Amino acid sequence: MKTQRIVAMLATVSLGLTLSVLSTQTANAATTKAIATDQRRANGGGDAIGSLRDEAEKAGLLIGSGSIKAMTTTSDGRPPNYLAEQEFRKVLAQQFNSLSPENDLKWQFIEPEEGVFDFKGIDRLVEFAKENHMQLKGHGLISSCCNPDYLTAKSDPVEFRAAMVEHFTKIMKRYKGKMDRYDVVTEALETFGGGLQHNDFYNVLGPDYIAEAFRIAHTADPKAKLFINDNLVEFLPGKRQELYDLVSGLVADGVPIDGVALQMHETLQGPPPGVITEMVNSYHALGLEVSIAELDVHTYDPVSQAKIYGDVVAEALAAGITEISVWGFTDKHLYTWLPGAKPCLFDENYNPKPAYFAVLDALRNYVQNRQQSAQAGRRSLQHR
Ligand code: XIL
Repeated sequence: MKTQRIVAMLATVSLGLTLSVLSTQTANAATTKAIATDQRRANGGGDAIGSLRDEAEKAGLLIGSGSIKAMTTTSDGRPPNYLAEQEFRKVLAQQFNSLSPENDLKWQFIEPEEGVFDFKGIDRLVEFAKENHMQLKGHGLISSCCNPDYLTAKSDPVEFRAAMVEHFTKIMKRYKGKMDRYDVVTEALETFGGGLQHNDFYNVLGPDYIAEAFRIAHTADPKAKLFINDNLVEFLPGKRQELYDLVSGLVADGVPIDGVALQMHETLQGPPPGVITEMVNSYHALGLEVSIAELDVHTYDPVSQAKIYGDVVAEALAAGITEISVWGFTDKHLYTWLPGAKPCLFDENYNPKPAYFAVLDALRNYVQNRQQSAQAGRRSLQHR
């Protein structure tokens, strides 16, 4: 599955979405200058670089980091529990007011044997979120990876559905009031569009598995906000339309869905300007929220990376998105399909990269513009 994904993402690159590998040489001068500025800011200590979270909170925004792993064992060579590391904890709590798990909530990890749950990872995240006044989002009740054999062996829809009810209910009841929102279904659509993925859920329950999943989740925790999460729609107009058709169909059928979570893993280049705004407007018109759930930028060049991050965040905020999460914040624990790319806001040693300052600037500009328009609004009322 992971290999398929890597191939798929690399194919995205070769699809013509971006054909030119960026010239590191041309970028070198600008990079050095940007890094020197960052270093000066960073040398002043943690407070001197500012805080994404402080800025976001001035405007009631959520700025989060997903891909936070807090498990007891690991199967991918990376440490099992990032929260065991003091510096990781410090930066996470200083910079973000929301977090979500990497794989800890995915089926195989949280219910490795039928009826046997391992809540340790998510419990650690709950505790961390509480200590640091952060929101916790559940990611991947249904995901495109990580379904255990005992589940996929079930071919009877009644049994399969019963397993889903048991799984969702155990998790969502345990974390009621602690995890306030969930990506219920991730990557329902084929990576490059072309209909629903024929995943383990589709194969047994048919296309209605999506509506069923939302209904089961809503019954388990009626207060949790429920999202559908998908990727690459910012680049692929056909897939964008498919997601819209799917979601508007769910809304028309009265399925309890609250929003659309755009993954936004960007490889070498950002989305065409205006696309985020167009998507946000179309889902707002259906009464739904839109969030950015997994932003990261897979490049070799810190300068273009910073521009992509900054542009995405600026457009998203202007369009009315109030929740933006990155997929991991430090290159120390990176996840990439582009060999050698460093997709995160902080480097391996937790130094802020140009991308960090681009996101901070986008947040600051948004907050300032908002304050200025509020002031202008007040002045015009006084003059009436
Ligand atoms: C990824 C994890 O980061 C990997 O460790 C795992 O091997 C595969 O899944 N979009 C998603 C996430 O919604 O769940 C994926 O997470 C990354 C892409």
